[in-house]
Amino acid sequence: MKLSGKKAVITGAGGGLGSAMALELAREGADVAVWDIRLAASEETCRAVEGMGRRAMSMAVDVTDEAAVGAAVAQVLEAWGVIDILINNAGICQVASIEETSAADWDRVLGVNLKGTFLCCRAVMGAMKRQRSGRIINLGSVAGKVGGISVGAHYSASKAAVMCFTKSLARELAPYGVNVNAIAPGVIESDMTRGITGGDWTHYLSTIPLGRIGRAEDVGRVAVFLAGGDSDYLTGEIIDVNGGQFMD
Ligand SMILES: NC(=O)c1ccc[n+]([C@@H]2O[C@H](COP(=O)([O-])OP(=O)(O)OC[C@H]3O[C@@H](n4cnc5c(N)ncnc54)[C@H](O)[C@@H]3O)[C@@H](O)[C@H]2O)c1
Repeated sequence: MKLSGKKAVITGAGGGLGSAMALELAREGADVAVWDIRLAASEETCRAVEGMGRRAMSMAVDVTDEAAVGAAVAQVLEAWGVIDILINNAGICQVASIEETSAADWDRVLGVNLKGTFLCCRAVMGAMKRQRSGRIINLGSVAGKVGGISVGAHYSASKAAVMCFTKSLARELAPYGVNVNAIAPGVIESDMTRGITGGDWTHYLSTIPLGRIGRAEDVGRVAVFLAGGDSDYLTGEIIDVNGGQFMD
C-alpha cells in the first residue's frame, strides 16, 4: 500500500470527488478526517473508510470559517499527532453570466473556493513545516484555465486563483519538504455537474477525446499519486484530469 498509516484531511468529502478521494486514499492505507458542512454526508464517507479497515473522523467544518478551521486542525493533531496530507476539495459552483452575478454571489463562490483553500492551507502549514514533510493537494478546474463555458466567471476566476496560489504555496513550503500540487478536473460526474447538466452529457461527450465523462475515482487515483512517494519530485504542478478535453 502506498499510503500506509498516513493521516489525511479532506475538505468537502461528504460526497462527489472528495468522498472518492477519501476512499482511494483509504484503499492505499490512509486514515482520513472527513470535513464537510453536511455532517450526515461526512459520516457516510467515514463509515465507508472504516469499512475498509481505516480510521476516520467525521467533522462538521465550514472552510470559510477561520476559527472552525483552526479548531478542526487542532482536533486532528490532538487525535492523530500529525497531518500528512491535506486535500482542499470543498467547492461550490454557480451558473450565471457576469451581469447576473451579484457581489454577494462573487463573495460566496470566492469565499469557499479560494479563501477556504487559503484558510485550510494556512492552518496546517505550521504543523507540516515542523514535521518537515507533507502533501497539499488543491482542486483547480479546466474552467480556471479556459474561462468557464458552462459555469460562472466567478467560479472560473476562483479556480484560476487556486491554481496560482498552489504555485506560490509550493515555493514557500518546498524548503520544508512539503509538496503542493493541484488537480484540474474536466467534467466529472458529481452532484455539482449533475446540477449544471441536468444529467444530459451529450454536449460534453463531443468535446472529450477519451469519449466518456470522468468518474470521481479518476480524480481519486491521481490524488493517491500526489499524496504518495511516486510524486516526490513534483511541486507547484497542476495535473489535468479531463479525458483530453483541454491539453496544455
Ligand atoms: N465535478 C467536476 O466536474 C469538477 C470539475 C472541476 C473541478 N471540480 C472541483 O472539485 C471539487 C469537488 O467537486 P464535486 O463535483 O465533488 O462537488 P460536489 O458539489 O458534489 O461536492 C462538494 C462538497 O463540498 C461541500 N462543501 C460545500 N461548501 C463547503 C464549505 N463551505 N465547507 C466545507 N464543505 C463544503 C459540499 O457539502 C459537498 O459535499 C470542487 O472544488 C469543484 O470545484 C469539480
